[in-house]
Amino acid sequence: MILNNNKILITGATSGIGKELTKRFCQLNNQVIAVGRNENRLNELAKFDSRIIPFKCDISLQSELDRLVAFIKKEHNDLNVLINNAGIQYDQTLLNETYALQKIEHEINTNLVSPIKLIALLLPLLQINSNSAIVNVSSGLALVPKTKAAVYCGTKAAIHIFSKSLRYQLNKVKVFEIIPPLVDTEMTKGRGKGKISPQRLVNEFIKAYQKNKYEINIHKVKLLRLINRISPKIADRIMNRATM
Ligand SMILES: NC(=O)c1ccc[n+]([C@@H]2O[C@H](COP(=O)([O-])OP(=O)(O)OC[C@H]3O[C@@H](n4cnc5c(N)ncnc54)[C@H](OP(=O)(O)O)[C@@H]3O)[C@@H](O)[C@H]2O)c1
Repeated sequence: MILNNNKILITGATSGIGKELTKRFCQLNNQVIAVGRNENRLNELAKFDSRIIPFKCDISLQSELDRLVAFIKKEHNDLNVLINNAGIQYDQTLLNETYALQKIEHEINTNLVSPIKLIALLLPLLQINSNSAIVNVSSGLALVPKTKAAVYCGTKAAIHIFSKSLRYQLNKVKVFEIIPPLVDTEMTKGRGKGKISPQRLVNEFIKAYQKNKYEINIHKVKLLRLINRISPKIADRIMNRATM
């Protein structure tokens, strides 16, 4: 991939991994359409660089997705990269009665349904423009799940397999997947050990992205995959100990 002079849409750009991706792509001289729900955080982010175009949008809602896509088609039809990064995790088991159906639906919409819809809606543009790519952010939990957050693990496993299949379907648009380990962000506040920084994740991602490595295992995920191949039982034990 050519790393500069792209127009990139990043969902979940106001915090953690998305924020770091936004800053890095600006430093590499790209324009970034930064998507999030929180207007204050979007405005703060936009102060960082004039190449950031903030757009308030809750991707879990169909009407909001339609509004975002209409904006892109009208104002930014040179968009050539979509990064599906926004995600949420309810760290609960289904036995927890407060984990209502509404939360389950919200989690599946945000992590799985909406990223797929956004791809479908923006694909006609991505097909026309050059150096085009889709980047989906899954998780090490897509490969080896943890006890809590079964719905989250399910959405990430689905995004993992979806990304692989989509890669087979598309010739012109490249399909990447970032598979992160535990990263030190708002999502993981107060839990887990041995987290890496979002900066470290982005460093590894950029190197692999530039070389067209499509499935990008970040840091400890490389080892996790190896252990999982040799002994899934040991991988399960490691994952459940690390993510408590
Ligand atoms: N942190 C980890 O250890 C880890 C590990 C593996 C994978 N991941 C994945 O990495 C991605 C980024 O996570 P993170 O750790 O950086 O989390 P984070 O710091 O909590 O950031 C999540 C971002 O998503 C946005 N967001 C959430 N729901 C949204 C919605 N409905 N519409 C639009 N934006 C929404 C949030 O912004 P607003 O609140 O402003 O909307 C925020 O910018 C997620 O897909 C996550 O599953 C994270």
